[in-house]
Amino acid sequence: MAEVIIVKSQEEAGEIYAYAVAEAIKANPRLVLGLATGSTPHTAYQALAARVKDENIDVSHVQGFALDEYVGLDPSHPESYHSVIRREVIEPVGLNPDLIHVPNGAVESLRHAGADYDAAIEAAGGVDIQILGVGTDGHIGFNEPGSSLASPTRMKTLTEQTRIDNARFFDGDLDQVPTHCITQGVGTIMKARHLVLLAFGSAKADAVAASIEGPITAMCPASALQMHPHATFIIDEAAAEKL
Ligand code: GLP
Repeated sequence: MAEVIIVKSQEEAGEIYAYAVAEAIKANPRLVLGLATGSTPHTAYQALAARVKDENIDVSHVQGFALDEYVGLDPSHPESYHSVIRREVIEPVGLNPDLIHVPNGAVESLRHAGADYDAAIEAAGGVDIQILGVGTDGHIGFNEPGSSLASPTRMKTLTEQTRIDNARFFDGDLDQVPTHCITQGVGTIMKARHLVLLAFGSAKADAVAASIEGPITAMCPASALQMHPHATFIIDEAAAEKL
């Protein structure tokens, strides 16, 4: 059963996330964070960075696992999720880069990269708090509609809609957007102990309604959260308008 918190602003959502994570790190300095990219988690990472600084919290042992990565994009590319996670999370929050992992999207490693990544998450003790955004089509990570709700980390093809949505990160040029990705599976994501899905704006309203009130179906991967024992949706009024 999902808990739904409706907030006035992205900043308020970020504060709720940052408070929960900061308290969890104080209780367990080796906390394992699940990290997401996209524009949605931005205020959450900023709020966490501010809280860590204000309260002088030791984050040097915090571990992290990103949800996904593009295939075939060099990790040094500014829009690779290696770069995004470094720029938006590791650097502002002051995390230890050696403890923060992003799936390996190098073409030559794809055969083993998914299983290796799931094994690394297990070896770290599993994800404690997983932050999630949601695609306009209900995808989480890069698990597009039709993804098995039991899926492990593996390579996937990006839908045209997701590539169009993400072209804004590639100078608006669809041709520059990779066609494939490696993503934690829905099954992998569901193993995290606490899932926190953020969604803002009316463009996400259909996906949010389908995720919370629709049938549990692979056609809306975020609907799997209905089966999770501890899932929290933090959404603004526009994203909640179809509930
Ligand atoms: C991408 C990411 C997802 C993210 C989604 C929504 O496809 N792989 O993890 O949730 O975009 O993006 P945004 O937060 O920018 O709306």
